[in-house]
Order: sequence, then structure tokens, then C-alpha cells
Amino acid sequence: AAGLSDVVSVIVGTAVRSLEQLIEEKAEPFDLVFIDADKESNPDYLRLSLALSRPGTVIIGDNVVRKGRVGDLNNQDPDVLGVRKFFEQAASDRRLDTTAVQTVGSKGWDGFSITLVSA
Ligand SMILES: C[S@@+](CC[C@H](N)C(=O)[O-])C[C@H]1O[C@@H](n2cnc3c(N)ncnc32)[C@H](O)[C@@H]1O
Repeated sequence: AAGLSDVVSVIVGTAVRSLEQLIEEKAEPFDLVFIDADKESNPDYLRLSLALSRPGTVIIGDNVVRKGRVGDLNNQDPDVLGVRKFFEQAASDRRLDTTAVQTVGSKGWDGFSITLVSA
């Protein structure tokens, strides 16, 4: 029987480099991707995650509402710009269907996105 160490591995390093490494190693496509590092790099994380996806892969992006700052076009914070560009990329890619869910919790008002890869 497979043990946990057969199915779980942790790669330590910067996320862009780790994703590039997985692509170079021709890793099997992932069923689920959870993006939750520095938001400024979200466009890179989406682009690289797509190279590790297949039809049916679900990509979740955390903290994509940011107390409404993402929808405020006057806000040019690098994290906000990263999330906005992430949505623009997702919306312009015909392989992707994306929605965002707004949440209210102990940390305040935020939300996450869900993207389904269809091709
Ligand atoms: C919002 S926290 C995510 C927490 C995580 N979802 C968890 O449950 O433990 C963001 C994390 O991304 C890490 N991070 C920030 N920039 C990164 C980068 N360029 N590459 C990899 N990790 C990064 C931070 O150190 C931090 O641990």
C-alpha cells in the first residue's frame, strides 16, 4: 500500500522556480492547484500552473478581493495589480472558466477564485 511519503512531496524554494522545475521534469498534470504566495506574481503562477494542468484541473487563487481593492481601478498596489492581471489572463484564455467568491471571515472581507481548465 502507498504510504503518505509516496504521494506527498514538498518543494522548498521560490514558487516560480519550483513551478519551472516541475515543468522541466515533465511532472504529471495536477488535479488541483492552490495559488497563495506573493500576489504580485499571480500572473506567473497562473501561466506556469497551466503548463502543469489538464482538462479538468481546478486552480484556486486566494485573497483575490482584498477588501474591494482589486475592483478599485485607482488602486495600483503591486499585489492588487497582480490579482487584476491574473483575472485578465484568466478571462482572455478560452480554455478557462473563472469565478470569484467573496468571503467575510475573522480576518475581514476577501475572497477566492475558482478556475476550471477545460482544454
Ligand atoms: C498567505 S501565506 C500562504 C499560507 C499558506 N496558504 C498556508 O496555509 O500555509 C503566503 C506564503 O507565501 C510565501 N511566499 C511569498 N512569496 C513567495 C515566493 N516568491 N515563492 C514562494 N513562496 C512565497 C510566504 O512566505 C507565505 O508563507
